[in-house]
Amino acid sequence: MTLRVRSCGPLRGWVRAPGDKSISHRAAILAAIAEGTSRIEGFLTCDDCLRTADALRALGVPVDPIGSETLEVRGAGLEALREPRAALDMGNSGTGMRLLMGLVAGRPMTVEFTGDESLSRRPMDRIAEPLRLMGARVEGQGERLTPPVTVHGGDLGGITYAPPMASAQVKSAVLLAGLSAVGETTVVEVAKSRDHTERMLAAMGADLSVEGLQVTLRPGHPLRATPMQVPSDISSAAFPLAAALLVEGSDVRATDTLLNPTRTGLVEALKAMGAALEVADEREEAGEPLGALRARPGALHAAEFGGDLIPRMIDEIPLLAVIATQAEGTTVIRDAAELRVKESDRVAVMAELLSAMGADARERADGLEITGPAPLHAATIEARGDHRIAMCAAIAGLIASGETVIEGAECIATSYPSFVADLRALGADCIEEEAHD
Ligand code: S3P
Repeated sequence: MTLRVRSCGPLRGWVRAPGDKSISHRAAILAAIAEGTSRIEGFLTCDDCLRTADALRALGVPVDPIGSETLEVRGAGLEALREPRAALDMGNSGTGMRLLMGLVAGRPMTVEFTGDESLSRRPMDRIAEPLRLMGARVEGQGERLTPPVTVHGGDLGGITYAPPMASAQVKSAVLLAGLSAVGETTVVEVAKSRDHTERMLAAMGADLSVEGLQVTLRPGHPLRATPMQVPSDISSAAFPLAAALLVEGSDVRATDTLLNPTRTGLVEALKAMGAALEVADEREEAGEPLGALRARPGALHAAEFGGDLIPRMIDEIPLLAVIATQAEGTTVIRDAAELRVKESDRVAVMAELLSAMGADARERADGLEITGPAPLHAATIEARGDHRIAMCAAIAGLIASGETVIEGAECIATSYPSFVADLRALGADCIEEEAHD
């Protein structure tokens, strides 16, 4: 699919971005190993999360869609998982693959995982290492164990593990394996990553304690089925909000948005740049904080970002880079080398994309430097199978002169299937076109 975007008048109105991707994956996985039936409302029906639902079905768990955003999962405990008959194809989803590798590592079964071109380039050694230390056998391709990967699960022992990078996927995989291990499992993080797994495990009755950067799980407590409500994904809501910061005269609200502090780094970063972003209607639902975010344009100035803030906005950094093109001065984003192993090398791809559109953007080994403000002009951008790259190009296209053409934009459905419809409803000039061979 090709997406064509032109600059437009003010964006106005409200948007309710679809369900949080990280929480949707975890809700399905934990419901699948709980005892009883869980109803998940607000489940993100995007390609990534549907792959996880399919994988759970292949592991023998009944997972039934009820309407477009509700899933009913009939779990019967960890013991009820069955070895799948074929490889689990996780599509584009690193989260799905990595969390499920952890889950099956503690079960007496062999499971092969495959993925699309982008996922087949992503390193799984970060998951294999702790799982091997716990007693599982993991095979993959090359030095970094890229997919296809095979996990031979079995008897695991609990470990204390300190991953070298702040990664919620690694932390979650180890904790999920820890549910089947003998003895307690502790993960000690270098910086706090998103904590949805810990919140959900605790709410479902797991024996889990969190002290600063350390999480300890003591196995042997069956998980209770729980009704779950998935808030709107701040990583998706960030796109229309960013558009409102950049397009003159705009005023956009994103309602029911996840405001978990391990995910709100972008809000802090933008406020540090002078952005007119307001938080309202704050509350807690199903163990997660949420609220409304309102964005309006205003003068932005450059800032420097690094350290603990980076994991709290890791998926929003490409979008921050787009916004930084319109800020006065040089914005520096460091300590973000993890961006190079996402759905694409987001450091290289963003530097290239922004430069192609006339911005002054430079790669650093561990991030980006962008000097603004710079007028942007349209370009033809290849999404490279990375949903966030495609959406970043669209937001940049809203303030560029001419028509920005985004090829391969179908990957947007990986996380935000209603992206184009939501932007159009706010007044954006963007149209989808089916690609013809
Ligand atoms: C995710 C964790 C992050 C993030 C990804 C979703 C999760 O990855 O980039 O989009 O749901 O656990 P890492 O764990 O690799 O940092």
